Amino acid sequence: MSIGSANETTADPVPMFHPHAPRPGDPVPHIPSMAHYRAMYEESVTKPDVFFGKLAQDLLSWHKPFNQVSHGNFHEGNISWFVDGQVNACYNCVDRHALVNPNKVAIIWEADEMDHHRSITYGEVLAEVSRLANVLLKYGVRRGHAVAIYMPMVPEAVYAMLACARIGAVHSVVFAGFSADALRDRMLDAKCRLLITADQGKRGGKTIQLKNIADEALAECPAVHTVIVFQRTNDKSVPFHPPRDIWWHEETSNQRPYCPCTPMNSEDPLFMLYTSGSTGKPKGVLHTTAGYLLGATATTKYIFDLHEGDVHACMADVGWITGHSYIVYGPLSNGATTVVFESIPTYPNAGRYWDLVDKHKVTSFYTAPTAIRALRRLGDDFVKPYDLSSLRILGSVGEPINPDAWMWYHAIVGRSRCAIVDTYWQTETGSIIITPLPGCTPTKPGSATLPFFGVDVAVLDPQTGEELKGNGVTGVLAVRNSFPSIARTIYDNHARYMDTYLLPYKGFYFSGDGVSRDEDGYYWVRGRVDGTFHSLFESTQDYIVRLLTSRSAPLDVINVAGHRLSTAEIESALIKHPACAEAAVVGVPDDLTGQAIVCFCTLKSSDLDNKTLSAALTAQVRAHIGPFATPKRIIITPDLPKTRSGKIMRRILRKVAGREVVQEDLQDDAILKIKLGDLSTLADPAVVALLINSVADRL
Ligand code: WTA
Repeated sequence: MSIGSANETTADPVPMFHPHAPRPGDPVPHIPSMAHYRAMYEESVTKPDVFFGKLAQDLLSWHKPFNQVSHGNFHEGNISWFVDGQVNACYNCVDRHALVNPNKVAIIWEADEMDHHRSITYGEVLAEVSRLANVLLKYGVRRGHAVAIYMPMVPEAVYAMLACARIGAVHSVVFAGFSADALRDRMLDAKCRLLITADQGKRGGKTIQLKNIADEALAECPAVHTVIVFQRTNDKSVPFHPPRDIWWHEETSNQRPYCPCTPMNSEDPLFMLYTSGSTGKPKGVLHTTAGYLLGATATTKYIFDLHEGDVHACMADVGWITGHSYIVYGPLSNGATTVVFESIPTYPNAGRYWDLVDKHKVTSFYTAPTAIRALRRLGDDFVKPYDLSSLRILGSVGEPINPDAWMWYHAIVGRSRCAIVDTYWQTETGSIIITPLPGCTPTKPGSATLPFFGVDVAVLDPQTGEELKGNGVTGVLAVRNSFPSIARTIYDNHARYMDTYLLPYKGFYFSGDGVSRDEDGYYWVRGRVDGTFHSLFESTQDYIVRLLTSRSAPLDVINVAGHRLSTAEIESALIKHPACAEAAVVGVPDDLTGQAIVCFCTLKSSDLDNKTLSAALTAQVRAHIGPFATPKRIIITPDLPKTRSGKIMRRILRKVAGREVVQEDLQDDAILKIKLGDLSTLADPAVVALLINSVADRL
């Protein structure tokens, strides 16, 4: 079965944008034509060992060369690459450039304060990273130990990651917008014994009390014996508890500015990064050293078409995978200059990004559709005053980009002469897997276009798992055959890795996203499958759940402003509130953020009015997860729609929350049935009216 033809969603003729010839003075792209792309792609999927063997030798510096390129497969879940080789990620990102070109700028730091920026050379990065690595060694961190990093967007966050990589420690960066509870859960799960944090963070003129939040988390993490505190603001009121707490500046100043790199086996873990899964418990996606580094290095080189002198500015936070791969590992491994941006796109005004591009002569710029949409709304006048002529490549990541936002990015920011790269990938894939190549791939606004080298994309029938061959098909996005940067496991829970990614469709990696392949073979990623195709996928979900050994449903992940959130995680935050009896959370379409969070809650008895309760429940979610998970609406309702077996029917909640069914529809059963689908499994049909009325009350 196919779930609709690609043409349904791309009915209007889509303009094709053909690459321009390079401007005089601009470099010739690394992949100069579609013929080159096709030949390389063909080799990469038909002879992956030959292709990646060569690439790994060309792009990485090895402590010990490998003989075997790949081993294992998706059937067995035992993927490994370059197994008998040895490599160090920090050596590749720092030393090999610092040793030949110590004065080249590695990092440009653009602080939250508009007039405050700093350039740091590769030579300086080597010294700073070494000093910190020596501090880690002094406090007992050894190869294989997990280190938590909870830092603002300062160069020291990058040093912290690289210092871990240098000595073989496994970093677990926790986004600085996460709450104390979330930080605690992640430190406990990873069994961290050391935390690197800062006194405070600055963002959009606001101060974030990082050390206070960390202290709250640490109260329940007795295993963390050392906390390295970087002074960002030097606010004297920040609590400091020796001997557990030590100052970054004091400790590093006592250390030698060189620390030898530990040669790591290719498959030694490099880092873990927690991402939302379908259950309340976040999963620690684990990436290994050589494969991840190769993926990050190769994609950055080819997709941002890096050449000598280029300045790459990725606006993500190092707390997300985009920051790991495209602020830290990818650009630095290529010896490029990378921008670390501490602020937000609208501070002090909506020209901030463009001021940054102009000031630092940025050549490739990478951000999320949510930011593009928000800036577009604020008007072109914020873009116009700036000289953006340094830009060659504009990237988008994190969610589907709607054609209007794409066109604005292209015409207003790119002045119709930059390559737009809509890059599709995930925390689990480690690096970009579907993308145009600048100067090479003709683009269509809204399509991530074609697979990157080595990624053999398959569109599967969600129910039968059969591959939908040919063009003009829609189904679930899967990948056949492993590629170097794919995550190897979920930390301490390989069964969950198998259940989530490799068992739903035997022999394939299952992405959790829906996708269309149009008549030209271009991919259109539709987002997490529970969102876009919910009416169909409710049954698919049942199907997949049946396949799985675990009790978890794999698809309840929503994407809000490019951040992946689990509905179950938000629900478990809500029901911790004493007044909340039951909670069901759904994503609804939102013009700005792609999807927004709507929470339905039933109450235990409570004296509070609904407005006060909604505020309290919102605060509960912010405290449990973080401010970026703030619900758009909390709907207090007398009941939730359930099947006779007690399963919440989210399909109904989504439609009610998205106002696809309204009070007038209650008059007509036939209309209700058309809009809501089959309601025969609903235990109490009266609940539909209750819900619709609760939503109407709330407006
Ligand atoms: C979505 C972020 C459409 C998708 C790198 C995926 C996208 C999830 C795109 C991963 C894109 C990412 N077009 N959807 N270009 N890029 N997504 O793990 O649903 O935070 O599964 O990784 O974001 O989010 P994650």
